[in-house]
Amino acid sequence: MQSWVERGEKVRMNTYSSFPIVMEKGKGVYIWDVKGNKYLDFGAGIAVNALGYGNDTYIETVSNQLRRLCHCSNLYWNQPSIEVAEYLVKNTCFQRVFFCNSGAEAVEGALKLGRKYGKKMKGNHSCRIISMQQSFHGRTLGAITVTGQEKYQKAFTPLLPGVDYVPFNDFAALKKAISEETCAILLEPIQGEGGIWPAKKEYLQAVRKLCTENHILLIVDEVQTGIGRTGNLFAYECYDIEPDILATAKGLGGGIPIGAILAKEEVASCFMPGDHASTFGGNPLSCSAAKVVLQKLLEEGLLEEVKKNSKYLQQGLLYLQEKYNFIKEIRGIGLMKGLEFHIPIAEIIKECIDQGLLLVGAGSHVIRFVPPLVISKKEIEEGIQILDQVLQRIHKNTIK
Ligand SMILES: Cc1ncc(COP(=O)(O)O)c(C=O)c1O
Repeated sequence: MQSWVERGEKVRMNTYSSFPIVMEKGKGVYIWDVKGNKYLDFGAGIAVNALGYGNDTYIETVSNQLRRLCHCSNLYWNQPSIEVAEYLVKNTCFQRVFFCNSGAEAVEGALKLGRKYGKKMKGNHSCRIISMQQSFHGRTLGAITVTGQEKYQKAFTPLLPGVDYVPFNDFAALKKAISEETCAILLEPIQGEGGIWPAKKEYLQAVRKLCTENHILLIVDEVQTGIGRTGNLFAYECYDIEPDILATAKGLGGGIPIGAILAKEEVASCFMPGDHASTFGGNPLSCSAAKVVLQKLLEEGLLEEVKKNSKYLQQGLLYLQEKYNFIKEIRGIGLMKGLEFHIPIAEIIKECIDQGLLLVGAGSHVIRFVPPLVISKKEIEEGIQILDQVLQRIHKNTIK
């Protein structure tokens, strides 16, 4: 009989190098495959499952919403989408929200909004966007254009016109790159896929000032850094700045697809009916899920838990760094951490999976730690212990 993996390999497009593991169910921060193997999940579906798996309130709320109303289109209003938009407005520096379904879509919409605003304020020539080298913004044509990594772009040229690239965290290069035609600067507060590189505080503050002085919009991509990942609702709060537009997704729906564009009133006001739309955007089902995630973060103390527990993760990573000389650096904020190695990480990740720990890479030499936001101290210690054992074995083999 054919295995699930063999069946999948025959019919699914070959875009992912998936591990030969078929996942079946989850509870808390653990996930089980169809063979009954249990894994501690330090990847959370790539920074998505904010509440872990099988959270009771989440299941009940989303199930109730599914019974009541799943989808009705944006020809009409629905209560959950209004409530989630209100939550986001009340707890951020933004006044307007647009819902979509994924990170790339949120970035696309943010770019459109940035261009429309630029043209309205400064004229048709104001349409260029500056993005960062080593960034990642998703896989649609617009999103790969602003993703400053050739490997994601080269098979799909021609890209969108009007995008310039500068090195991240290099203010002089950015200042040199702006022109009358620049309408927006796009960046991740912490570059995620690029290897967990946080923006320096003085850099981001200087970028904000540069944008204000030159009537350029600051767009932050918080698809990965947002929704509590850093211990704040959004990472921009760590930098004491206010962006003009923000794109988010991943953790917002706690596993159910939803993305959002947040914008300042003045910027958002240039979007008119017909300018932008999404059939599924803001549907009651995904918004009911987002409402539970935001309630847990903002009203039930989950943000404080993230702040507290991220210290244990940091301690664990420091312990490993002191013990193993093939670990180069620890980076990141809150429960978004990267451990850079002098050696490739593929074997480490594979061995950790065999030992029941799921980890995600960010490039060839960085392991990314983005566990469910509900992870406890004990579960963090359990993960560090498994990783320690794997590293011990690899260390022995490298000095043989
Ligand atoms: C910073 C950032 N932006 C955008 C995206 C794209 O999100 P999605 O895969 O939901 O389209 C990602 C996904 O990893 C991301 O990390």
